[in-house]
Amino acid sequence: MAEKRSLWGSKIGFLLAAIGSAVGLGNIWRFSYMAYENGGGAFLIPYLVALLCAGIPLMILEYSLGHREKASPPLAFARINPLWEPLGWWMPVVAFFGINLFYAAVIGWCINYLGLSFNLGWGADTQSFFFGEFLQLSDSPFNLGGIRWPILAATAGAWVICWAICFREVSRGIEKASMIFMPLLVVLTLILVGWSMTLPGAWEAVKEFYLSADLSKIALNTAAGRKVWVAAFGQIFFTLSLGFGIMITYASYLPKKADIVGNALITCVLNCLYSIVAGFAVFGTIGFMAKAKGVPFEEAIASGPGLAFVVYPEAINQLPMLNQLFGALFFLVLIVAGISSMISLTEAFSCSICDKFSISRKKATSIICVIGMIGSIPFTCRGGLFILDIVDHFINNYALIIGGVLECILIGWLLKSQVMRRHVNESGGVRLWPLWDLCIRFITPAILLTMLVGALLGEFSEAYEGYPIKALLLFGGGILFATRLISFILSHVPWKPEKLKAEHHPEDENLLT
Ligand code: PHE
Repeated sequence: MAEKRSLWGSKIGFLLAAIGSAVGLGNIWRFSYMAYENGGGAFLIPYLVALLCAGIPLMILEYSLGHREKASPPLAFARINPLWEPLGWWMPVVAFFGINLFYAAVIGWCINYLGLSFNLGWGADTQSFFFGEFLQLSDSPFNLGGIRWPILAATAGAWVICWAICFREVSRGIEKASMIFMPLLVVLTLILVGWSMTLPGAWEAVKEFYLSADLSKIALNTAAGRKVWVAAFGQIFFTLSLGFGIMITYASYLPKKADIVGNALITCVLNCLYSIVAGFAVFGTIGFMAKAKGVPFEEAIASGPGLAFVVYPEAINQLPMLNQLFGALFFLVLIVAGISSMISLTEAFSCSICDKFSISRKKATSIICVIGMIGSIPFTCRGGLFILDIVDHFINNYALIIGGVLECILIGWLLKSQVMRRHVNESGGVRLWPLWDLCIRFITPAILLTMLVGALLGEFSEAYEGYPIKALLLFGGGILFATRLISFILSHVPWKPEKLKAEHHPEDENLLT
């Protein structure tokens, strides 16, 4: 018997879950650094242009596709064109195998650091503690070097939390969790920002490096300027969790009447606002630390794991009082932001498996979380950071953008964007302008393809981070190949015939195409 599809219990529940997916580690440790590196306040210009030209149109696209088909990405793709099913699988498969496995390990690091913050267990030299004592980093990506048990234990903890949330019906699991996580995240972040800004030297650093705008850095007539624009588009994609089929999945649980455009606008704006506000905490804290230690700000700032696990602990050491509490607050923010993204990565894959194999959500989630836990093990080993870095680079630069382009072609050209626009407008809420068609058919894919070519050229001109070519091919090429292979195999399992029957859309019938 066909199972009834789950629904969100409330509009706000859906919104909070979508924002929870979007707001993640990237908002905290990626955005600030990109802004700093790419002209401070001036970075906001390409960032906002990217939001308008690619972020919002694609968010509307993912929401509308999920809402119209009431299906996971592979099923939605297969209904529009059966030949496209493997590509529909690729998005959640990449989300799960390409991101979720290492995302869980990073949350595992954060959990460990939360524990360490109670006695500032990282010591005075935070850099050698992180790479030496904590990760015990091996000498090359080929040397996995055995499991680091504290990391494995915490990673398993992250998987258990994720399982406990995704296991329940959407309205009682993900929705409830998001209703708790998101307000908590906002409160914790605001405390962190407020606290950071009271530290000596914080405001000066914010003014000098964050709020000042160096417009020359974003000039389109220089190669460096163009790179900034490409980086801004990449960041918008990553930060909004687009191109992974997550938003398709979340929107598939929406009721028939839903304000797709309004929801998409709110998700995009609140996510970007969160990044901008969190930037104050990052710049403020690092500014304080640079002043306290008498080092230039330029030398103190870092991105990614370096920011969270080396620079921040160092700043926490320098605080005049309540160091432990500040540390716990920071890592708790990372954990909450991380888990709410991790559940969305898991849900996109598990919903696809439920759709295809007609098994219960409980069964699918349990199987997937066990596979996920086993798949995370390499990232908890001593060489894990190298593999993580390579996999992350290839997924972010290629898989995600390819996913975005494919969606644009599928909806813009195969289904026809007018059909989708009409669906959105019939569903109620804010009306979608024909300008959207132009974005989805021409502007967004053209920009994405330009980025893809740029990334490819960069790849051939120098090996990423100086890794051996063999390692890049094995882990980077390997993950792209493996995810394609898994998608190919999954798409060859036949559907139950009733599944493939599209929802009836009377609004399409009198449409001239
Ligand atoms: N958007 C999340 C962030 O900014 C990362 C993420 C990407 C989560 C893709 C899910 C899917 O950190």
